[in-house]
Amino acid sequence: MIAEATEEPLAGIDWAALRKDFPILDQRVHGHPLIYLDNAATTQKPRAVVDALRNYYEKDNANVHRGIHELSNRATTAYEAARTRAAKFINARSADEIVFTRGTTEGINLVANAWGLKNIKAGDKILLTEMEHHSNIVPWQLLAERTGAKLLFLPITGDIGLLDMNHLDEWLTKDVKLFAMMHISNSLGTINPVVEMCARARKLGVTTLVDAAQSAGHRPVDVQEIDCDFLVFSGHKMCGPTGIGVLYGRQEVLEKMPPYQGGGEMILSVEYEKSTWKAAPHRFEAGTPDISGVIGLHAAMDYLDKIGRDNIAHHDQELGAYAYAKLSQLKGGIRLFGPHIGRAGLVSFLLKDVHAHDVVTVADQRGVALRGGHHCNQPLMRKLGVESTARASFYFYNTTEEIDRFVGVLQEIQKFFAT
Ligand SMILES: Cc1ncc(COP(=O)(O)O)c(C=O)c1O
Repeated sequence: MIAEATEEPLAGIDWAALRKDFPILDQRVHGHPLIYLDNAATTQKPRAVVDALRNYYEKDNANVHRGIHELSNRATTAYEAARTRAAKFINARSADEIVFTRGTTEGINLVANAWGLKNIKAGDKILLTEMEHHSNIVPWQLLAERTGAKLLFLPITGDIGLLDMNHLDEWLTKDVKLFAMMHISNSLGTINPVVEMCARARKLGVTTLVDAAQSAGHRPVDVQEIDCDFLVFSGHKMCGPTGIGVLYGRQEVLEKMPPYQGGGEMILSVEYEKSTWKAAPHRFEAGTPDISGVIGLHAAMDYLDKIGRDNIAHHDQELGAYAYAKLSQLKGGIRLFGPHIGRAGLVSFLLKDVHAHDVVTVADQRGVALRGGHHCNQPLMRKLGVESTARASFYFYNTTEEIDRFVGVLQEIQKFFAT
C-alpha cells in the first residue's frame, strides 16, 4: 500500500524527465506555456501523491485508531507509518516526536498555546527575527498579550537580508525564554544559520523553534543536527497535499506540554467533570485527523527523498543564483532583495516605477505565475521601506529556460512602463 522510501539520491538526475510527474505543468495559460514560479506559496503535486490519495479513498478509507475492522486497521497502519516516515524525514529520534498538524501556522499556534501558556510569564522575552512570516509573529503577539511577555526582533542588515549575527549576544540573553526563527526566508531567499542560532540558545537554556516551511522540502533538514526543541513545516510546500503539516517536538518537551485542543482521540478517560490525556503525540491530535493528507504527505516525502533533498538543494541554489545574476544585469532599474550569494531558490525584486502587482498581472498574461505583495511579511517590508515585492520562487521542476523566459517578460514590462 505505502511504498518504501529510497533514500539513495539518483545518480545523474534527469530534471526535465521529473517534470512529466507533474501533469499540471503541461498546460497553456493565456495562450502561453505555463511557467510556474510561485513555489514558495505552494508547490505542485506529483502523480505519486495524487495516486496515493486516490488509492486511499478507493481502497482503504476508514477512521483511524477507533475501529477493529479491516479498513480501519489499514487506515491506522498507514497513518502511523507516515508518522514513522516523517520522523525519518527530519531525523527525529522517535515517531513520538511527530505531531500532525494542518501546517506550519497551526504548528506554531500549538506551541504558542500549549507550551507558551505554561512556560511564559510576565516580563519574559521571546526573541524572533525581523524577517519572520506573520505565522511566526502573530501567535507570539497573542501569547505576549495574554501573558505580559515582551517580543524582541533580531535585526536584518538591509536589502541584503542577512541576520545581524554579530550582535546576536545583545538580543539572546538569559531573560529570553524562546527563540523562534525561520530557516529560509520566503521573501529574501536567505538561508539562516539555524544550527549556530540554536546552539547559542541552548547554551543559555533558551527553548528554540525553527520554521522550516521553506526548507523541509528543499534541503535535508535534521532536527538532531539543528538541535532545536520544535520544528514546523507544511506538506503543501513540498509536493504534499494542502491542510497537512508536521510539528516536531523534542520528546521531553512534548511530554510536559498540556493539550492544545480537547476532543476525541486525545484522551485516556473522560468523566463529566474531568479528563486525562494520552501521551504525546496523540495528546495533540484531537478529533479525526486529515488521514488522506497524512498519506499524501508520506508519498511526498518518499518522492522527494528518491530525488534526494541534497540534489534538490543544489538545483535550487543553481536556479536562484542564475536568476539573481540575470536580474542583476537588467538595465532600467531593478532593486533586488536578499543575499548576493548562498541564496535559496527564489528572487524578490522591484522594477523601477512599476508596482509589484503590475509585474505579476502582466507576467500572468504571458503564462508566468509570480507572486506580488507583502508575502505575509508586512513588518519586514516596512523595514525595507517598501510595500511589496515581486517574487519568483523555484522548485526542482523549473528550468533555466523558464527563467530566461521570465526575465524576457520583465524586459517587456520595463519597456512598456518606460513609454
Ligand atoms: C517561512 C514561512 N513560514 C510559515 C508559512 C505559513 O505556512 P502555512 O500557510 O502552510 O501554514 C509560510 C507560508 O508561506 C512561510 O513561507
